[in-house]
Amino acid sequence: MPEQPELFSATPESDATRRLQELRAAIERHNYRYYVLDQPEISDAAYDRLFRELETLERAHPDHITPDSPTQRVGAQPATEFPSVQHRVPMLSLANAFGHEEFAEFDGRVKRALGLPAEDEVEYVCELKIDGLSISLTYEDGELRTGATRGNGVEGEDITQNVRTIRAIPLHLRRDTPDDLSGTLELRGEIYLSRTEFDRLNSEREAHDEAPLANPRNAAAGAVRQLDPRETARRKLSIFCYAIGAPGNLQFSSQQALLEFLRAAGLPVNPHIRLAHGVAEVLAFCDHWEQARSTLRYDIDGVVVKVNSFEAQRRLGFVSRSPRWAIAYKYAPEQAETQVRNIVVQVGRTGALTPVAEMEPVTLAGSVVSRATLHNEDEIRRKDVRIGDRVIIQKAGEVIPEVVRVLLEARSGEERAFEMPNECPVCQAAVVRPEGEAVARCSGIACPAQLKQRIIHFVSRGALDIQGVGPALVEQLVDGGLVANPADLFKLTVDALSPLERMGAKSAENVVAALQAAKHPPLSRLLFGFGIRYVGETIADILAQHFGGLQGLAQASEEELLAVPGIGPQIANSVYIFFRQQQTRELLQELHDLGIMPHSPLPVAGGAFTGKTFVFTGTLSIPREDAERRVRALGGKTTSSVSKGTDYVVIGEKAGSKADKARKLGVTMLTEEEFEALMAETGE
Ligand code: IVH
Repeated sequence: MPEQPELFSATPESDATRRLQELRAAIERHNYRYYVLDQPEISDAAYDRLFRELETLERAHPDHITPDSPTQRVGAQPATEFPSVQHRVPMLSLANAFGHEEFAEFDGRVKRALGLPAEDEVEYVCELKIDGLSISLTYEDGELRTGATRGNGVEGEDITQNVRTIRAIPLHLRRDTPDDLSGTLELRGEIYLSRTEFDRLNSEREAHDEAPLANPRNAAAGAVRQLDPRETARRKLSIFCYAIGAPGNLQFSSQQALLEFLRAAGLPVNPHIRLAHGVAEVLAFCDHWEQARSTLRYDIDGVVVKVNSFEAQRRLGFVSRSPRWAIAYKYAPEQAETQVRNIVVQVGRTGALTPVAEMEPVTLAGSVVSRATLHNEDEIRRKDVRIGDRVIIQKAGEVIPEVVRVLLEARSGEERAFEMPNECPVCQAAVVRPEGEAVARCSGIACPAQLKQRIIHFVSRGALDIQGVGPALVEQLVDGGLVANPADLFKLTVDALSPLERMGAKSAENVVAALQAAKHPPLSRLLFGFGIRYVGETIADILAQHFGGLQGLAQASEEELLAVPGIGPQIANSVYIFFRQQQTRELLQELHDLGIMPHSPLPVAGGAFTGKTFVFTGTLSIPREDAERRVRALGGKTTSSVSKGTDYVVIGEKAGSKADKARKLGVTMLTEEEFEALMAETGE
């Protein structure tokens, strides 16, 4: 048989090598123009063509693939966890200044510490404070080696494989700079998600019936922690670099010189930087960007002001974990003005009626919003919000913005006051508002709006955590009469699901499989999932630990419930009443018949953490509830504030005042890794 000619055997080896080099150089140049200079030379389509040509050529010459080739960004297999790495130089945080006065005080402190007369003007570099997450990048002899999260500042997580997927981060520094790039350079910057990417990601999530991400910062933090680098790559993160940890063989005289180097080395540096002399120029920059922040492609939450001279920085030094030569001038949350078109009420899981303002759509913090929560009737009265009012709204980290205040001077007299309806807008049952409570509730026991929310809660992350069943599907299931209580979920079949909107056979199979896999949840999750009033995750855990099974709990008297440590009269009453209802008894029977058997928690008497109290603070790599649950499973207690009675404070990323308090009180502080180690010692 004649030998099959090899694909591309026509390209002589030397030609191929030359073309490979040309293509890589061209792609790198275009990356630099696009991400660093923000001046692309070619269209996205032309870039993609170069990229595909490189891929094809490399496939034909696999032995010529180099690790720093642009095609090798997403190469790795999914990780199972992120190893921890020690930072060469700790990653510190900054003290904050709110408003002009506090900045002037900072300037005063700088001058005093430097022995300068009060009338002198210090040279500062003003940089936008990008609202993302800080990252450390290590280059060895100019090649990217590691990327790490800040972690607790001393130790972070090695997320190199994910960092490599970020196209704005060069895999090697520019070789055409006169600087000596030998040795180890550790650089720092902020990873962020642009507002357009954030919106794109959230639309995608909505289409998949997943809960939206609250803001670009959370979205970026989630993206760098994906175990599968391909997933990180899909989220299109960006970066701006602004600091140096280890300078290798380089020396810089100022922040300005450092920024110039970073840019020349091929790293993205934010273009909006001002060298300011004295307080007035700094504040002018801060004020300008407070006004203009919405024109940016990304979120900022202030301005970082740094003393320019490194010599002066050295003399100023540090206090606790922050430098004395820099400060974060913080902005208040972004606000916008709009008009209230209508006020409607939404019915929650417990029947709570929440008034919501429907507004003239307006851009706020980079995305278009048209609804704002008004919390409850008393809040509406307090702020005196009326239909037709012009209002100021703001977003403070949540998905739904809130109405801050009414522009009373803009009233025409045509505005209409809002009345809480007497009947539920969905099921028409009576609305009741018990004495002394702020919340009005629908009293209907079969209210479809409540039912939808109950089902959404039942399948949510802290409860049964059923993938693929989100708000849009629940809406269809309830409206279509397929689900009238949580037990009905387990009766769903592929045939019943497939014809639904945005479903199809494959997704239907996945949903059914996810439900089957959820038939033996931990008792505490099932209890939490029932949505009993006052029973959050912590209380659900306490009840599960104490009673060990559904039966004992369902039969417990109010006195028995009250006798459980941590259970007060309100909770005892609510739980007692829940289990006395005919509806609940039927639900439990049905769940039982369908084979839903919660598993009991392990006995904790004598657990390794018995008598120990933990506080978690900052962002951890696992959901905080999971960490807390693990402590409780070993007999420990978790609380939300640090006191002398606290045994351990576990410090996550961006930990704030609780860490300070722990330090002050001398409470043992653990990094997340140390906490893991402690758990491992107990054999968990
Ligand atoms: S300099 C010694 N520059 O703000 C601290 N930080 O509140 C060095 N950030 O952890 C930080 N933009 O995540 C610096 N241009 C900028 C920044 C910036 C955002 C973040 C960073 C830091 C936090 C401090």
